[in-house]
Amino acid sequence: MLRLQADLSEQDMRTLDSGGIDTAVADRVVENAVGVYALPLGVALNFVVNGRDVLVPMAVEEPSVIAAASNAARMVREGGGFVAEADDPVMTAQIEIVGVDDPDGARARVEAASAELLALAHATLPNLADRGGGARELEVRTFPGRVIVHVHIDCRDAMGANMVNTVAEALAERVARLARGRSGLRILTNLCDRRRVRVQARVPARALATETLDGAAVRDGIVAASRFAEDDPYRAATHNKGIMNGVDAVVIATGNDWRGVEAGAHAFAAADGRYRPLAVWREEKGDEGDLVGQLEMPMAVGTVGGTLHAHAGARLAQRMLGVTDAKLLAMIVGSAGLASNLAALRALATEGIQRGHMALHRKSQPVAVLEPPQPAAAKSVT
Ligand code: MEV
Repeated sequence: MLRLQADLSEQDMRTLDSGGIDTAVADRVVENAVGVYALPLGVALNFVVNGRDVLVPMAVEEPSVIAAASNAARMVREGGGFVAEADDPVMTAQIEIVGVDDPDGARARVEAASAELLALAHATLPNLADRGGGARELEVRTFPGRVIVHVHIDCRDAMGANMVNTVAEALAERVARLARGRSGLRILTNLCDRRRVRVQARVPARALATETLDGAAVRDGIVAASRFAEDDPYRAATHNKGIMNGVDAVVIATGNDWRGVEAGAHAFAAADGRYRPLAVWREEKGDEGDLVGQLEMPMAVGTVGGTLHAHAGARLAQRMLGVTDAKLLAMIVGSAGLASNLAALRALATEGIQRGHMALHRKSQPVAVLEPPQPAAAKSVT
């Protein structure tokens, strides 16, 4: 069934079986390669994102994550599916200038030269400008003895780390002269708060009911669990871990930098000085009393570049998703995060994680089970 739905060829089935990368390729990607390290790859079902059905590939070793996300997505589907939007794919270069005697004067001189500096950034990445991206804006932040210049760059469909670091290095000497200081670090920030995804999910209360609790009681339990995370950073950390169960699994499956996404997520969660949940849940006022969840977080994922050239499995995962641009991928990743969060909170608010969430794995939704291809002719997947 999966093979038909995702239009997979026999070669694709072999890619799924092998993990999409072999030792020879690994040796070209990293140093001192001795092999490849595999993770289970599954497909989460029932996802509707902005009105479109999507099969969501997830690479994860934890039992229950894929079944739970599929189960939550089925509930959200009853409320119309996930509604998502993403900012333009803007990443930020940080250029640190140290030994600055007059940070305010330095800021004025750098700001006055912003057109020149943006032109220099464009000249550094001419292909990016051809694709409609490029350096958009300059921002100067001052500290005692130090000036930090941010260059905001629209990276189009790339995750963007290489481009941003190239611009940071290309501009640093000129910025240092303007600031009358010395160039320090030149690197992107993973707190890419201009590249956020926002996802909303609505679930009719009746869709939340369990064998022993009606939907309204479950909804109230989920809202109370959300408020616990909003009040207590210790709980918020675990709440966000549940979100990252879904987020990381898709980020890894699609060949993206999950360490960067993790760093951005947690820095954003703590951006106002207190660690907060990345998604919150409320009862919508009105007759039906639907449960409504909102997620917002940075999402630096790309559909070109990175390891995609080397990793056939990541390319296949992106094809299965049908993603053509980075913003669409970000929206699907955010939806997987919100689904994972809903599943965890529903389990916690009802029978507990051990019996509910974990048992879901054993009962197992009909999540696709992939048969290994036969040597001669690969069998189709049922
Ligand atoms: C386990 O991987 C994730 C949970 O702990 C998340 C949560 O507590 O919300 C179940």
